[in-house]
Amino acid sequence: MKATVIHRFGPPEVLSYEDVPDPQPRDGEIRIRIHAATVNRVLDVSVRAGNEGHRAPVLPLIPGVDCAGIVDAVGPGVRNWRKGMRVAAAGVMPLDVCAEDGNDYSGPTGMMGIKRPGGFAEMVAVPACAAIELPDALDFHHAAVVMRHVPTAWNLLFNVAELKAGETVLIMGASGNLGSIGIQIAKNVIGARVIAAAGSDERVQAGLALGADHAVNYSTHDLTAEVLALTGGKGVNVLYDNIANPKVLPKAFLTVGFGGRVVTAGAHAGPNVTIDFAHLYHKQITIKGRPGYHPPDVPKCFAAAAEGKVKAQIERILPLSRAAEAHRLVESGESKGKIVLDPTL
Ligand SMILES: NC(=O)c1ccc[n+]([C@@H]2O[C@H](COP(=O)([O-])OP(=O)(O)OC[C@H]3O[C@@H](n4cnc5c(N)ncnc54)[C@H](OP(=O)(O)O)[C@@H]3O)[C@@H](O)[C@H]2O)c1
Repeated sequence: MKATVIHRFGPPEVLSYEDVPDPQPRDGEIRIRIHAATVNRVLDVSVRAGNEGHRAPVLPLIPGVDCAGIVDAVGPGVRNWRKGMRVAAAGVMPLDVCAEDGNDYSGPTGMMGIKRPGGFAEMVAVPACAAIELPDALDFHHAAVVMRHVPTAWNLLFNVAELKAGETVLIMGASGNLGSIGIQIAKNVIGARVIAAAGSDERVQAGLALGADHAVNYSTHDLTAEVLALTGGKGVNVLYDNIANPKVLPKAFLTVGFGGRVVTAGAHAGPNVTIDFAHLYHKQITIKGRPGYHPPDVPKCFAAAAEGKVKAQIERILPLSRAAEAHRLVESGESKGKIVLDPTL
């Protein structure tokens, strides 16, 4: 099969489009013929550049931390999957063998595309228990993006922040991946009041188009003053920030009201940020960091996407052979939505 392989860390040119042996599904695994894999700022671009040594990626590596496609072979011991089923997969997986039902991740684990072959290929073998069947309403490109971002945003807002209907949430990075998904979950699924923040008028408009009740351009306006005015001085119940911009997060933190919760799963513009500890204790604020997701939420995420309550924002779909170009686009910071690779193109 064709795959994109990294033999050494470096610039986008190290992504080599080449022939590799077809993966064979082992005990408890399914093989997916891939139709979509997303390109990510940290887990693809920064890994390729060699800046994620703490994740200990295994070279040579087929990157790609998610995929969507069609099951085309099942390994021994797999009962609930058959050829032809539409599927998505991502996340932490056993490196060797996996129980088919439940999440019995005994033995060493790691992410596809970091520790074991990933989605930048025509095929990948993954543990059956780490895959989910797709609803008919979702195409493969959107399904891959849903798999990548929606469960993380869902976990942060539902389980970590415990955001409730009628509460107010400030969503940072309104047009980004976790930001755009967060707006839609908070508004369309939870029923919260959403204030979106972004660094340009165009990104503010994107937040409003996604359903935010209000949006603030923090480059041209005082974020603290604007949000306090919008909340009658009370502040927000939840601050959802996955960016850690040291110029913006301190202002956002001062908008958190009494008993407020700050949640995060990312810090690509930080990680070091100064916050006001007097505000923290006076307002009895809780700060929780929680990457990853809660596996039982994944079917709910796909159901919300199938119902149109959460729509993935895709900027461009490229053939797998153009993975280096996809990396350059993500690295430029100019893409307005997800870049998806499709090996069938
Ligand atoms: N499954 C997941 O999605 C997942 C899971 C765990 C962790 N994470 C982490 O969560 C973070 C957010 O991921 P994402 O895909 O949502 O990010 P993203 O879409 O690439 O970026 C989100 C926003 O960050 C701001 N931004 C980007 N680069 C910046 C820079 N250099 N300095 C200041 N601000 C910058 C921009 O918003 P403005 O309008 O504010 O400028 C942008 O819209 C990442 O660190 C990622 O690793 C993601």
